[in-house]
Amino acid sequence: MLEQRIRNVALRSRVCTADEVQSWIQNGMTIAVSGFTKSGDAKATLQALARRKDKTGEPIKINLLSGASLGETDGILASRGLLGMRLPFQSDPDLRKSINLGEISYIDQHLSETAEWIRSGWLGDIDFAIIEATAITENGGIIPTTSVGNSPIFVEKAKRVIVEINLSLPLELEGVHDIYLPTARPNRQPIPLVNVRDRIGTTYIPCPPDKIAAVILTTAQDTPSNVSAPDAETAAMAGHILEFLSHEVNRGRLPKNIGPLQSGIGSVANAVLSGLVQGPFHDLEIYTEVMQDAAFELLDAGKVRFASSCSFTLSQAMRRHVLSRLGEYREKVVLRPQEISNHPEIVRRLGVIAINGALEVDLYGNVNSTHVSGTHMMNGVGGSGDFARNAALSIFVTKSTAKDGRISSVIPFVTHVDHPEHDVDVIVTERGIADLRGLAPRQRARTIIDHIAHPDYQDALRDYVRHAESHSGNTPHALDEAFGWHLRLQQQGDMRTMPSPVRAVN
Ligand code: COA
Repeated sequence: MLEQRIRNVALRSRVCTADEVQSWIQNGMTIAVSGFTKSGDAKATLQALARRKDKTGEPIKINLLSGASLGETDGILASRGLLGMRLPFQSDPDLRKSINLGEISYIDQHLSETAEWIRSGWLGDIDFAIIEATAITENGGIIPTTSVGNSPIFVEKAKRVIVEINLSLPLELEGVHDIYLPTARPNRQPIPLVNVRDRIGTTYIPCPPDKIAAVILTTAQDTPSNVSAPDAETAAMAGHILEFLSHEVNRGRLPKNIGPLQSGIGSVANAVLSGLVQGPFHDLEIYTEVMQDAAFELLDAGKVRFASSCSFTLSQAMRRHVLSRLGEYREKVVLRPQEISNHPEIVRRLGVIAINGALEVDLYGNVNSTHVSGTHMMNGVGGSGDFARNAALSIFVTKSTAKDGRISSVIPFVTHVDHPEHDVDVIVTERGIADLRGLAPRQRARTIIDHIAHPDYQDALRDYVRHAESHSGNTPHALDEAFGWHLRLQQQGDMRTMPSPVRAVN
């Protein structure tokens, strides 16, 4: 058994326990771990570090880099005060709380960029890379598990590497990954990926055996994803998107199989993708950073012919299903490093159709995906910016209201901009679809109000536009009112409590 998991003979003598290895971690160190949207994250060593903190209470804080969010480990570390700096993405309630209290320095980053920052030395030295693996090859190559994330650059740049071999995962994972690292800048060679299914690298992360300081054996499971099931509103959004894409195909503006799809994280994006199972499209391709349950539903329904991703982020039931059928999926699925799955060059070249979630959108098409009321971090921008900026078609989805209608997701001015108007082609809510392509700002405002805003807020939005336009401008705003809706929410807990009309409108 161990022979198959650790094929390099010398490395078999470096098997240690997580409790031994965690003692190497010192206050102030920078630790880089595998893991992307709760999958394939290195769990054993960091959770052993948390146990040490519980036992000794010593003041220790680490800077923690990863691919994206970890599973429960993010919360375990945050709740014990073990994190000084965290980068580049998270989605854990406890970690979110500490970030918003200012206890942890959180750097929210386009996920394709972390590797470049590390390559450029901007984040300093990495003391340890801790990588969850299926197996280690004869030459030290590390075969990742359910995600690739930033592991290749972490392994290349870290001073020492710790490998956590997860014995609960099938060896059939070998062959799912395609590891490619871009060449040095400037004069970098083009990335030789021109089809979603192209394989351009190795099935393992190259690593000199001597760099591997320890091998830990574990059976810890990925934290299951907890996206809510599709509901009437998300089903309506999926319907609008299907109708829109069919229209684009009929007009000859999209190919019959619509082009490679990217779908973001979250319940809404998952439900929208799931709606394609009933749709008219066949031979679909997926070029994305995270495959949620819906992507596998589409594969199983025979709608998708190939999917390229950086991770599998699955519910418990879907995870069991996928891991038991890896032999089949391996022919139709590839996992890549996030700098490749999200690379602007490739997203632009392939003509990806990007579908991402928004918290709020404004009248001119700017999108806030991250900061509640402009200040409180939800998750992070993740890969949404990598895709939205470079996609052939950039679609954002959100319910038209949040918190039982007390919050309108369509507001005069977003309180934080993740995706400027220039990166947003289409916005969809359960009310309908706002196609902003070819529209000037004033036209966009009318389209957005008429097609996607909730009826409870439409009159107030029209009132705002009339007032704003009385101040003139290419993108008219009434700056004294632009954030008035959020102030009302803050003071009265409801955006619907509108001030009485005070303006004479001609
Ligand atoms: N103000 C305050 N809260 C809001 C809100 C708003 N305007 N809009 C939504 N919310 C709340 C919801 O009420 C819900 O809260 P709950 O968890 O307490 O129920 C939460 O935000 C999630 O909203 P939901 O409508 O369920 O959507 P979602 O699960 O699809 O998530 C985002 C939406 C924007 C948070 C999510 O898409 C995201 O994190 N995006 C950024 C990262 C990304 O896009 N990555 C893409 C590549 S993977």
